[in-house]
Amino acid sequence: MKGLYLILFAYLFFACSKPVDQPRLNGVISDSAMVVSAHPLASEVGVSIMKKGGNAIDAAIATQLALSVVFPAAGNIGGGGFMVIRLKNGVTATLDFREKAPAAATTNMYLDEKDEVIPDLSLKGHLASGVPGSVDGMIEAHKKYGTLPWKDLVQPAIDLAKNGFTLTEREASWFNQAKESIEKYNSVKPTFLIKEKWNGGDSIQWLAMAQTLELIRDNGRAGFYEGKTADNLIAEMKRGKGIITHEDLKNYHSTWREPLIANYKDYKIISMPPSSSGGICLLQLLKSVEPYPLKEWGFHSVKAIHLMTEAERRVFADRAKFLGDPDFFKVPVAEMLSEAYIKNRMSTFNPDKATPSAEVKSGNIPDYESEETTHFSIIDPQGNAVAVTTTLNGWFGSFVVVDGSGFFMNNEMDDFSMKPGVPNMYGAIGGSANKIEPNKRMLSAMSPTIIEKDGKVFMVVGTPGGTKIITGVFQTILNVVEFDMTMQEAVNAKRLHSQWLPDAILPEKGSLTEKDSTTLAGIGHKFTYIKGTGFGRVDAILVRKDGKLEGAGDYTRGDDRAIGY
Ligand code: GLY
Repeated sequence: MKGLYLILFAYLFFACSKPVDQPRLNGVISDSAMVVSAHPLASEVGVSIMKKGGNAIDAAIATQLALSVVFPAAGNIGGGGFMVIRLKNGVTATLDFREKAPAAATTNMYLDEKDEVIPDLSLKGHLASGVPGSVDGMIEAHKKYGTLPWKDLVQPAIDLAKNGFTLTEREASWFNQAKESIEKYNSVKPTFLIKEKWNGGDSIQWLAMAQTLELIRDNGRAGFYEGKTADNLIAEMKRGKGIITHEDLKNYHSTWREPLIANYKDYKIISMPPSSSGGICLLQLLKSVEPYPLKEWGFHSVKAIHLMTEAERRVFADRAKFLGDPDFFKVPVAEMLSEAYIKNRMSTFNPDKATPSAEVKSGNIPDYESEETTHFSIIDPQGNAVAVTTTLNGWFGSFVVVDGSGFFMNNEMDDFSMKPGVPNMYGAIGGSANKIEPNKRMLSAMSPTIIEKDGKVFMVVGTPGGTKIITGVFQTILNVVEFDMTMQEAVNAKRLHSQWLPDAILPEKGSLTEKDSTTLAGIGHKFTYIKGTGFGRVDAILVRKDGKLEGAGDYTRGDDRAIGY
């Protein structure tokens, strides 16, 4: 009997002292290639291109065009975006195909005679659009890195638009929510409105869009920026008092830019430079938290949340002052990323107390002159990696559909600073760095990012979500590299967001216990609760230690899907 007690005691001792391994939640695992995007059909298109022998850039182009059909709320040819590339030989590149302000744009174009911002003018309708960059961007990417013929990359999108596809419940509900605005901002009724109410399981075709894509397939750049598509776009602008002209379309060109590269511990982070604020803010955030023992503190511990919020407060204050289109404004990139500058910014960090945002100003740089976007990540069998974030800005952009050409126009002008101190749709404040000027790119938060470790691709990551893009990518990276999550766990994990102003933490539902919120409130943090999910759908790929790829589509927040082989 005594022996039995001893065995029982020994069993209990070991069972209690040895941590029980929790089953891990993995994404889609594949041996050689992966596409993760906001729509299963777009991911399938990307994979089919690689199976035909195309590389990751070919797959990215075909995925972008397919998303404009199957995910028209954010996928687009009437918008813009950013592409980050890392080739298998380590060469990196970034492409800025962000929209530009039309030449007739003026700094005060959204203000009334009392200098007040006119509600909705930069958000809805024809005047809200910048000159689209996506088609030129895809053509540039193909010219420089594509391997398959251009027409092969456009054809899958044409087929989807012509043959139609089935809507999920979620997509049908988005369409129904947008219906009223689409009716209001289009003088010619788009075919989209043929149905009173869309239901999951309905099939939808985009026939005018298919014709536009055929013109792009056959004529390249001229299929969009000239000829019938351009004529339809300008006629549409004239009907709705928009200001984009034929000249603006002809003059639009995307730009190759030097990638922004910096280290976080053993990881090399490759991200998007301005005109996106994404890369620079992400690197500032990572560098701000690098000296602290996040791993020891743990995921969503009060200490970790406090530190990350305080870093975000300081970084977003800098964003408001120093960031704008580098073709118009000298962005002090090197200074903002220097060790000394970041150290100085964090020197006022108090581990026991929140700093009110009113006391946090942008940094001092001597001699300084003064849920509505979509992301996809791709790795091909050769090891080339591409991260693309692309957008119309708001959900369905300006709600304007170009009559006869069947695509939605962006409302990207709202990403400019309308007036110093007045927040845009994401609550972001800006100053003169991001004021409206003719032909200028509006500041973005998009952060397509590729991470290297030991000279090899480690992660491809990005998300939609306006200013929540920056903090979403920041948290997803830390979830893997500090908190030991799988890619899927990192993507699914609940998030928090803060951005200097408003002076509050926005917690995603389920991200915080009541006890932890009380503790954080006790040291001076305020909270704003957001209805619904509202947090971006991170789509990411992790190269695991065993060399396999883990693709993680954000299926808890959207219909996003990883497909690999
Ligand atoms: N339109 C959202 C962004 O560019 O950040």
